[in-house]
Amino acid sequence: MLNLGILISGRGSNMEAILKSIKRKKIPIKPTIVISNKADAKGLKIAQKMGVKTEVIESKGFKGSRSEYDKKIISALTKNGVTPKNGLVCLAGFMRIISPEFVKKYKNKIINIHPALLPAFPGLDAQKQAVDYGAKFSGVTVHFVDSGVDTGPIILQKVVKVNDGDTEEALAKRILAKEHQAYPEAVKLFAEKRVKISGRKTVIS
Ligand code: GAR
Repeated sequence: MLNLGILISGRGSNMEAILKSIKRKKIPIKPTIVISNKADAKGLKIAQKMGVKTEVIESKGFKGSRSEYDKKIISALTKNGVTPKNGLVCLAGFMRIISPEFVKKYKNKIINIHPALLPAFPGLDAQKQAVDYGAKFSGVTVHFVDSGVDTGPIILQKVVKVNDGDTEEALAKRILAKEHQAYPEAVKLFAEKRVKISGRKTVIS
């Protein structure tokens, strides 16, 4: 069985949706570690309550380079059985860009969720970007992580309509509800080995 590591920075609602769905739907993957780069991330307590081990690797004030920081993450993942061969890493609101070394070592084993229909509105404040742009639809993307920002092969997307007069908060709330469906679905597809990568595309069997 694959081992799952989840990286968070805050609320952890996507992490919670993944953990719940693994239990409920018997997804063939074992969550072995949740790592936060912030000691006060709310998601840490949720993970502990759900019986998943947690670790904090504080990024604030870290003196080394990005790749030195990521070495600590890699070491925590490895210790908990989340290896490139036998693991999956989910970025779930992990608000850091990861180093090329980390991406290379865990090639096609790191996935991320983004609150927009990529390639539209990458980077920060995706929901605000969609509202400000006047997009009629936005949504959710779950994708593999490559060396760019929000550029890797797309596993799945879900569409959310942008209503007239939507605020960033209102849209973000509706997008989040879809995120909680999309991320567990993508983890299930990966765990069942149904995601094949072909160039920058994925084929789901
Ligand atoms: C989610 O909306 C996620 O899509 C977003 O951060 C939020 C984390 O919420 N991620 C990004 O914007 C990454 N570019 P959560 O901690 O409750 O899962």
